[in-house]
Amino acid sequence: MPRVLIVYHSQSGASARLAAAARAGAEGAGGIDVALCRAWDAGASEVLAADGLLLVAAENSGALSGGMKDFLDRTFYPVGEQGRVLPCALLLSAGNDGRGARQQAQRILSGYPMREALEPLICRGPVTARLEALAREFGEGFAAGLEMGIF
Ligand SMILES: Cc1cc2nc3c(=O)[nH]c(=O)nc-3n(C[C@H](O)[C@H](O)[C@H](O)COP(=O)(O)O)c2cc1C
Repeated sequence: MPRVLIVYHSQSGASARLAAAARAGAEGAGGIDVALCRAWDAGASEVLAADGLLLVAAENSGALSGGMKDFLDRTFYPVGEQGRVLPCALLLSAGNDGRGARQQAQRILSGYPMREALEPLICRGPVTARLEALAREFGEGFAAGLEMGIF
């Protein structure tokens, strides 16, 4: 069964709620194994055991949150050395922008390298039921694409 790894970094809990919603959506897709891991706890072995990576983090000071950047920095060499190019997707939480985090994350992922399977989803403002529903759909769409082998 293909496995999706959802890695998240969250300070206030906003990104954590979006990650939980994405996980529920991914599990709902069926036929896929879903793992959820904090960025601080995730390493290369978790990435290498996955068939797709969903990254959930905030924009902080116009950039990708430090915890998520740390995860990508730590895993860059050990994952890159294996020569695997995983499909990935970005789910971002932001106060009112998110473009800086998206741009930085996309630059990092293009050099990692990872293959962006979906357009990034930026959730602006406090996490509402509507944003949780969007995150759930995003997780479901990513998992369904992996399960069908189209990513
Ligand atoms: C130090 C800091 C810097 C932030 N910088 C930005 C920013 O540049 N652009 C933006 O849209 N939101 C910014 N925000 C708001 C967060 O992106 C937003 O509150 C997000 O939901 C936080 O998610 P998290 O608490 O799960 O990490 C910032 C928040 C903090 C704490």
